[in-house]
Amino acid sequence: MTEPVDDPDVHQDEEDPWAPEPTEVVDPFSPGFFFADRFRIEAPLGVGAMGAVYRATDLQSEEEPIALKILLRDKQEGEARERFAREAQILSELDHPGVVGIRGYGHTKNTPWLAMELVKGETLGQRIRRSGKLEPAVLAPILRDLCDALGAAHAAGIVHRDLKPDHVLLRDVDASSASAVKLIDFGLSWAATSRKLTATGTVLGTPRYMAPEQIASARNTSARSDIYALGVIVYEALCGDSPFAASDQGQLLGAILQGRIEPLAKHRPDLPDELDAVIRRALAHRPEDRFATPRELYEAFVAATGARASQPRFSKPSLPPRATPAPAAVTPARFALYAIVALGVLLLGGAVGYLLSR
Ligand SMILES: Nc1ncnc2c1ncn2[C@@H]1O[C@H](COP(=O)(O)OP(=O)(O)OP(=O)(O)O)[C@@H](O)[C@H]1O
Ligand SMILES: [Mg+2]
Repeated sequence: MTEPVDDPDVHQDEEDPWAPEPTEVVDPFSPGFFFADRFRIEAPLGVGAMGAVYRATDLQSEEEPIALKILLRDKQEGEARERFAREAQILSELDHPGVVGIRGYGHTKNTPWLAMELVKGETLGQRIRRSGKLEPAVLAPILRDLCDALGAAHAAGIVHRDLKPDHVLLRDVDASSASAVKLIDFGLSWAATSRKLTATGTVLGTPRYMAPEQIASARNTSARSDIYALGVIVYEALCGDSPFAASDQGQLLGAILQGRIEPLAKHRPDLPDELDAVIRRALAHRPEDRFATPRELYEAFVAATGARASQPRFSKPSLPPRATPAPAAVTPARFALYAIVALGVLLLGGAVGYLLSR
């Protein structure tokens, strides 16, 4: 087990918190490990190509549970480090209920870290693996909120570039909450203001979800490359399988580049043909032939399936229905009172009439 770090040396809110230091890097952690004098590691949540993500307790923030992403030891230099910094920057810019919230970032002992809100629930990938195939009615609210979050990122000039079911966290909450999903891992994202990552020309992303132009060159990616990934996600969620029949990476890339898409009916003959057309439009070879926005894709999905998320998007919490007073029940006592009042009025009227007639 790794020894706790004595000198956390956290540099937060400095001009360049990512500048490498001539100190050793920190090893992966075990539960109970104290990191950066601030976080207690509780359990691993996932290990990716770039970082390890842990459930941790933030001791500086009323012991709030968080998700702590730490750059892996062998990725400490170069581009991975830059991508990690970019993810922190983009999450700081994107404040949306469908995008994971950032709680802080910095580095300790030359190891960059990123503290995020902890999302309780499973990833869409886990859900697909668990359920096999999702029904359109189950997918509709997930897709709506995913499209909404992605649309907000695009509106802010950010292309995700690594959309896949394992980057869509499904929240373990009731349907009335602000968003059913939290989009994560903006590590490959590309902000319009900073296009430096394109200079490398490296193939970045997860091939299974990559648009043809993204495979050809990272320089060519645009918001419509994310639309393509959305199309693959929708197909996988409905079919429990990839739209491309391939037994190795070479075949996969060939199928994507040649647009060899397995018909939806191969897995789901029960679904309407219109849905096959929606997926083919999202997976169109030329970006300009795809849906222009995630919202357009969602609306086409709804039109083809008739499955619409029941809750309006980001509806404000509705006020409890105003209590309408129940009609007063006519009790015997109340009836007697009414009779006495009526009799009094009659007698008074009679007396007045008698006096006037004299
Ligand atoms: N905020 C969070 N709350 C809960 N779980 C999370 C959170 N962020 C990440 N995870 C879990 O950790 C996994 C890895 O996260 P992430 O994709 O950000 O890391 P990564 O190192 O970039 O992975 P890769 O490079 O393979 O995509 C996720 O698939 C998810 O299971
Ligand atoms: Mg990831």
